[in-house]
Amino acid sequence: MATVEFILNGVPTRCETAPDTSILTLLRDTLGYKGTKEGCASGDCGACTVAIRDTPQAAFATLNACITPAHQLQGRHLVTVEGLESEQDLHPAQQAMIECHGSQCGFCTPGIVMSLFTLHREASRGAPFTSETLEEALGGNLCRCTGYR
Ligand code: FES
Ligand code: FES
Repeated sequence: MATVEFILNGVPTRCETAPDTSILTLLRDTLGYKGTKEGCASGDCGACTVAIRDTPQAAFATLNACITPAHQLQGRHLVTVEGLESEQDLHPAQQAMIECHGSQCGFCTPGIVMSLFTLHREASRGAPFTSETLEEALGGNLCRCTGYR
Protein backbone atom coordinates (compact mmCIF):
# COMPACT_ATOMS: atom_id res chain seq x y z
CA MET A 1 0.00 0.00 0.00
CA ALA A 2 1.11 3.54 -0.69
CA THR A 3 -0.23 6.91 0.33
CA VAL A 4 -1.70 9.13 -2.35
CA GLU A 5 -2.56 12.77 -1.71
CA PHE A 6 -4.63 14.78 -4.14
CA ILE A 7 -7.48 17.30 -4.42
CA LEU A 8 -10.88 15.66 -4.93
CA ASN A 9 -13.65 18.06 -5.95
CA GLY A 10 -11.77 20.87 -4.21
CA VAL A 11 -11.10 18.94 -1.00
CA PRO A 12 -7.61 17.77 0.01
CA THR A 13 -7.78 13.99 0.16
CA ARG A 14 -5.32 11.41 1.48
CA CYS A 15 -5.72 7.66 1.25
CA GLU A 16 -3.87 4.39 1.11
CA THR A 17 -3.97 2.51 -2.15
CA ALA A 18 -2.51 -0.67 -3.61
CA PRO A 19 -0.41 -0.42 -6.79
CA ASP A 20 -3.07 -2.20 -8.85
CA THR A 21 -6.00 -0.09 -7.65
CA SER A 22 -7.64 2.03 -10.33
CA ILE A 23 -9.00 5.53 -9.79
CA LEU A 24 -12.48 4.09 -10.38
CA THR A 25 -12.07 1.49 -7.62
CA LEU A 26 -10.64 4.09 -5.28
CA LEU A 27 -13.56 6.43 -5.94
CA ARG A 28 -16.35 3.89 -5.70
CA ASP A 29 -15.11 1.32 -3.19
CA THR A 30 -12.84 3.31 -0.88
CA LEU A 31 -14.19 6.85 -0.99
CA GLY A 32 -17.88 6.11 -1.70
CA TYR A 33 -18.15 8.30 -4.77
CA LYS A 34 -20.57 6.19 -6.80
CA GLY A 35 -21.43 8.79 -9.45
CA THR A 36 -18.60 7.61 -11.68
CA LYS A 37 -19.81 4.44 -13.39
CA GLU A 38 -18.13 1.24 -14.52
CA GLY A 39 -19.21 0.03 -17.93
CA CYS A 40 -16.61 -1.90 -19.88
CA ALA A 41 -13.78 -1.62 -17.31
CA SER A 42 -11.33 -1.61 -20.19
CA GLY A 43 -11.11 1.99 -21.37
CA ASP A 44 -13.59 1.74 -24.24
CA CYS A 45 -16.97 3.13 -23.19
CA GLY A 46 -16.30 6.36 -21.27
CA ALA A 47 -18.80 5.65 -18.47
CA CYS A 48 -15.98 6.21 -15.96
CA THR A 49 -14.81 9.55 -17.38
CA VAL A 50 -13.42 12.03 -14.84
CA ALA A 51 -11.56 15.32 -15.24
CA ILE A 52 -8.04 15.95 -13.99
CA ARG A 53 -5.46 18.72 -14.01
CA ASP A 54 -2.01 19.15 -12.55
CA THR A 55 -2.44 22.61 -11.00
CA PRO A 56 -5.34 25.02 -10.36
CA GLN A 57 -4.23 27.05 -13.39
CA ALA A 58 -3.89 24.13 -15.80
CA ALA A 59 -6.50 22.96 -18.26
CA PHE A 60 -8.61 19.96 -17.36
CA ALA A 61 -8.24 16.77 -19.34
CA THR A 62 -10.54 13.79 -19.25
CA LEU A 63 -9.36 10.29 -18.45
CA ASN A 64 -10.86 6.86 -18.06
CA ALA A 65 -10.81 6.14 -14.35
CA CYS A 66 -11.16 2.38 -14.88
CA ILE A 67 -7.73 1.96 -16.47
CA THR A 68 -5.76 4.69 -14.70
CA PRO A 69 -3.86 3.66 -11.55
CA ALA A 70 -4.88 5.59 -8.45
CA HIS A 71 -1.28 6.46 -7.61
CA GLN A 72 -1.26 8.74 -10.67
CA LEU A 73 -3.50 11.09 -8.69
CA GLN A 74 -0.58 12.14 -6.51
CA GLY A 75 -0.49 15.95 -6.29
CA ARG A 76 -3.19 16.43 -8.91
CA HIS A 77 -6.72 17.86 -8.97
CA LEU A 78 -9.54 15.44 -9.72
CA VAL A 79 -13.14 16.39 -10.47
CA THR A 80 -15.93 13.83 -10.54
CA VAL A 81 -19.57 14.33 -11.41
CA GLU A 82 -20.29 14.91 -7.70
CA GLY A 83 -18.08 17.98 -7.85
CA LEU A 84 -20.07 19.84 -10.49
CA GLU A 85 -23.24 20.76 -8.67
CA SER A 86 -23.25 23.81 -6.41
CA GLU A 87 -25.87 24.34 -3.71
CA GLN A 88 -27.95 26.54 -6.01
CA ASP A 89 -27.24 25.30 -9.50
CA LEU A 90 -26.43 22.42 -11.71
CA HIS A 91 -23.41 22.81 -13.98
CA PRO A 92 -24.41 24.05 -17.48
CA ALA A 93 -23.47 20.61 -18.85
CA GLN A 94 -25.89 18.95 -16.44
CA GLN A 95 -28.61 21.53 -17.10
CA ALA A 96 -28.25 21.08 -20.86
CA MET A 97 -28.56 17.32 -20.53
CA ILE A 98 -31.89 17.83 -18.72
CA GLU A 99 -33.24 20.48 -21.07
CA CYS A 100 -32.27 18.52 -24.20
CA HIS A 101 -33.52 15.17 -22.84
CA GLY A 102 -29.99 13.85 -23.29
CA SER A 103 -30.27 10.89 -20.96
CA GLN A 104 -32.31 7.70 -20.97
CA CYS A 105 -31.08 4.93 -18.65
CA GLY A 106 -28.45 7.37 -17.42
CA PHE A 107 -25.58 4.93 -17.14
CA CYS A 108 -23.37 6.81 -19.58
CA THR A 109 -24.55 10.22 -18.42
CA PRO A 110 -21.94 11.03 -15.72
CA GLY A 111 -19.16 10.30 -18.21
CA ILE A 112 -20.77 12.40 -20.92
CA VAL A 113 -21.32 15.24 -18.45
CA MET A 114 -17.65 15.13 -17.44
CA SER A 115 -16.53 15.30 -21.08
CA LEU A 116 -18.88 18.26 -21.60
CA PHE A 117 -17.60 19.88 -18.40
CA THR A 118 -14.03 19.71 -19.68
CA LEU A 119 -15.03 21.12 -23.06
CA HIS A 120 -17.05 23.88 -21.38
CA ARG A 121 -14.06 24.84 -19.20
CA GLU A 122 -11.77 25.01 -22.19
CA ALA A 123 -14.29 27.00 -24.22
CA SER A 124 -14.62 29.48 -21.35
CA ARG A 125 -10.81 29.86 -21.50
CA GLY A 126 -11.02 30.75 -25.17
CA ALA A 127 -10.68 27.36 -26.86
CA PRO A 128 -12.77 26.85 -30.01
CA PHE A 129 -16.26 25.50 -29.51
CA THR A 130 -17.62 23.98 -32.69
CA SER A 131 -19.57 20.92 -33.69
CA GLU A 132 -16.19 19.33 -34.47
CA THR A 133 -14.73 20.00 -31.01
CA LEU A 134 -17.99 18.81 -29.46
CA GLU A 135 -17.87 15.60 -31.44
CA GLU A 136 -14.22 15.12 -30.55
CA ALA A 137 -14.89 15.72 -26.85
CA LEU A 138 -17.65 13.10 -26.84
CA GLY A 139 -15.87 10.63 -29.10
CA GLY A 140 -14.91 8.40 -26.17
CA ASN A 141 -18.38 8.27 -24.61
CA LEU A 142 -20.59 5.48 -25.82
CA CYS A 143 -24.33 5.41 -25.19
CA ARG A 144 -26.48 2.37 -25.82
CA CYS A 145 -29.80 4.17 -25.42
CA THR A 146 -29.81 7.46 -27.26
CA GLY A 147 -29.05 8.69 -30.73
CA TYR A 148 -26.45 11.20 -29.44
CA ARG A 149 -28.57 14.09 -30.67
S1 FES B 1 -15.71 1.73 -17.68
FE1 FES B 1 -13.98 2.90 -18.10
S2 FES B 1 -13.99 3.20 -20.24
FE2 FES B 1 -15.66 1.85 -19.87
S1 FES C 1 -28.53 6.83 -21.61
FE1 FES C 1 -28.38 4.68 -21.43
S2 FES C 1 -26.37 4.22 -22.06
FE2 FES C 1 -26.60 6.31 -22.44
